[in-house]
Amino acid sequence: MNDQLQWGGRFTGAPDAALLAFGSSLEEDLVLAPFDVATSRAHVSALEGGHVIASATADALRSALDTVSGEIADGTFAAAAIASQAEDVHGAIDARVRQLAPQAGAWLHAGRSRNDQVATTLALYARDRATRGSALAAATAREALSQARRALDAGTLLAATTHWQPAQPILLAFWLAAVAESFARAAARFDRVAADAKLECPLGSGACSGTTLPLDREAAARELGFAAPSRNALEAIGNRDLALDLLHAVARALGAASRASEELVLWSAPAFGYVQLADEASTGSSLMPQKRNPDPFELVRAHAAGATGALAAALGTTTGLGLSYHRDLQETKAIVIRATERGLAALAVFDRALAYVRWNDARMSARAGDGYTVATDIADALVLRGVPARRAHELVGASVARAEREDRALGPADLAALAAAAGLAEPLDAPLDAAASVRAKRTSGSTSPAEVARAIGALEAVLAARERMGTA
Ligand code: ARG
Repeated sequence: MNDQLQWGGRFTGAPDAALLAFGSSLEEDLVLAPFDVATSRAHVSALEGGHVIASATADALRSALDTVSGEIADGTFAAAAIASQAEDVHGAIDARVRQLAPQAGAWLHAGRSRNDQVATTLALYARDRATRGSALAAATAREALSQARRALDAGTLLAATTHWQPAQPILLAFWLAAVAESFARAAARFDRVAADAKLECPLGSGACSGTTLPLDREAAARELGFAAPSRNALEAIGNRDLALDLLHAVARALGAASRASEELVLWSAPAFGYVQLADEASTGSSLMPQKRNPDPFELVRAHAAGATGALAAALGTTTGLGLSYHRDLQETKAIVIRATERGLAALAVFDRALAYVRWNDARMSARAGDGYTVATDIADALVLRGVPARRAHELVGASVARAEREDRALGPADLAALAAAAGLAEPLDAPLDAAASVRAKRTSGSTSPAEVARAIGALEAVLAARERMGTA
């Protein structure tokens, strides 16, 4: 009899080795080991609180779980578990406890199913990793904001693009603050997942309907930091919302990282030359001696794609299942864990690589007006002088076409011609360069230096507040 198996009494034949191996999630769910130990400990409290087991048994179980905890910490548990034929980390820990404390160990699984155990362990994992994701995203937001402050002081300009075509001048600080905004939102998304993972404790739900054993579910929920035991056993054991929400938060945070990465990759190309990645973050080519490649940002982009694919896979795995537990749900665990571990590593890499970006302020600023990026402000100036917007758009469009034919920028002569064409009595005053353009912006949330300073300060305050609340 394989003592790693938690069942077998009703069978006479042994399981087919290949099928048994296919059914194991141990390689992927080993990372859950510390959370399973916590869950097992709480179950011991529930059993003891309900007088299902004697205090001596509870103590023996706790001490065996302490030993397992030590083995997890020093790495010996993983090796032994992999060598065993356990179906999952939950079975491996149960088997190890039975080995360490044969008599008490036989009581650990009383009134417990791997179904409520998996759901509870996953909730603890989601809470832990969401907290880590939140801290990572908040750190990146702060890094982007500190770079934004420097760029604001330097007055660095940048041609914002839409469709990758020159659109309007902005401050580099505005771009960096935009990156910070998306990461602050990613952190808040992680916070919501962590908060949800403190609400309902599935432990004590048994396989799907509760148990006839008088478990002290409140004690278990309290011990694991949940507000209360879950209300419906059937739903609690088959629910994977927390795991999906965690993966969604990971995928979305990486989505933000991937978009910023895309621009940084492009800007590091010599044709742009807006940024250079420090040697510490660059890689070379094995053949082309001149190469300096921005690999970390390219890899982050790819990890974002991986997390997005994993999210779709995880959603698919849970879709169309009836209520309760189905073995398909085991795969959710593998998909979510792998994507979360890789995703959080990629977020840490993005944060680290961002600090190695060296901005070429002069080159960015010099090109911010290229491509007639002030054209909109000139049209706006006409509108402010009473020219209907469509007419202003057309007139400035014609000026741009003329300047383009003559291969020159828009200048004072064009403003004079526009004033004449629009029938204005007074000369037209409008920004003709990128610096004047950003200074002329009036709306809140705009790229005007004063607004950017205000927005940076406001977001800094938001991040400082969440740090004070201990969520960072
Ligand atoms: N290996 C399963 C998992 O990780 C454990 C739950 C099995 N439950 C069951 N009723 N067969 O999801």
